[in-house]
Amino acid sequence: MKEALLELREKALEELKSLRSAEELELFRVKYLGRKGLLSKYMAQLSTLPPDEKRVVGKLANEIKVELTRGLEEACRGVLQYAPTKVSPVMDVSLPGHMPPRGRTHPLVQTIQEIKEIFGRMGFQVVSGPEVELEYFNFEALNIPPDHPSRDDFDTFYVSDDILLRSQTSTVQIRVMQKQKPPIRIIAPGKVFRPDTVDARHSFMFHQIEGLMVEEGVNFGHLKGVLSLFARTYFGPDTRMRLRPSFFPFTEPSAEVEISCSLCKGKGCSVCGGSGWLEILGAGMVHPNVFKAVGYDPEQYTGFAFGMGVERIAMLKYGIDDIRLFFENDVRFLSQF
Ligand code: PHE
Repeated sequence: MKEALLELREKALEELKSLRSAEELELFRVKYLGRKGLLSKYMAQLSTLPPDEKRVVGKLANEIKVELTRGLEEACRGVLQYAPTKVSPVMDVSLPGHMPPRGRTHPLVQTIQEIKEIFGRMGFQVVSGPEVELEYFNFEALNIPPDHPSRDDFDTFYVSDDILLRSQTSTVQIRVMQKQKPPIRIIAPGKVFRPDTVDARHSFMFHQIEGLMVEEGVNFGHLKGVLSLFARTYFGPDTRMRLRPSFFPFTEPSAEVEISCSLCKGKGCSVCGGSGWLEILGAGMVHPNVFKAVGYDPEQYTGFAFGMGVERIAMLKYGIDDIRLFFENDVRFLSQF
């Protein structure tokens, strides 16, 4: 019987090496280690042996059982690693699980959040306004005359004669001032719409962040201070800023705000067109006619306003060369932020 057991051990160990699937593992277990398996059969026969032999053979049978059990466990681990989805009699809970892919915030949302934070630290509150607007808020109250080209069908999406999709977030300036008395410090992020043909730089929908600060004694120096602090915080401490004269019907004087190119540090590159400067926003002192439209006394209050394009800011910061990338929902692009 001792011989028979040793032979069984030999055969079983050989077989163990060839097991390749959960099914084969289970068959092996039943054949050798099962309740009606070969080892059990020998153990049942032990009682027929003389006591001396019984002790020796019994011990051997037990050793073989332990050895085969260990061997089977090891074989299980090997097989399951290569076929982890197959449900098998032995489940290895120590194997790593399947991680579902996780989403993340869109780069534009991230950009808006960062900008909100910077202005928040300067005491600006975040407000929002409707995307479908009355013509009054988009043009009339902002001192934009009826014959101004931006009022054209070509430049604004009209829903009806006096309802439109806002083409700028400056609408929110009016809505806030109608409801509140100074002091006012707000920023208003949101979508705006213009019937532009879509290309690398244009989209019929994009995002702006409007800013407005109104109280007694606000002057152009405050505008410059707030915006240069923003530029240095967002684009880096070495960023320089310059203002160039511009025109907007709702601000006077008006300025185009430029920063030293964040990519070439002002040396001149393809992004800044070799000039070393990038235009990042429009700004100016609130026009007295705008104050009159909301019932503020322009002799008592002064203020400044600014508006920036979020896509443009993000493109400049990250060196993105096509605005369409923001809206195509391509995970290969979005997962880089
Ligand atoms: N609304 C202007 C635009 O869309 C930007 C702007 C906002 C300029 C506030 C001055 C003050 O171009």
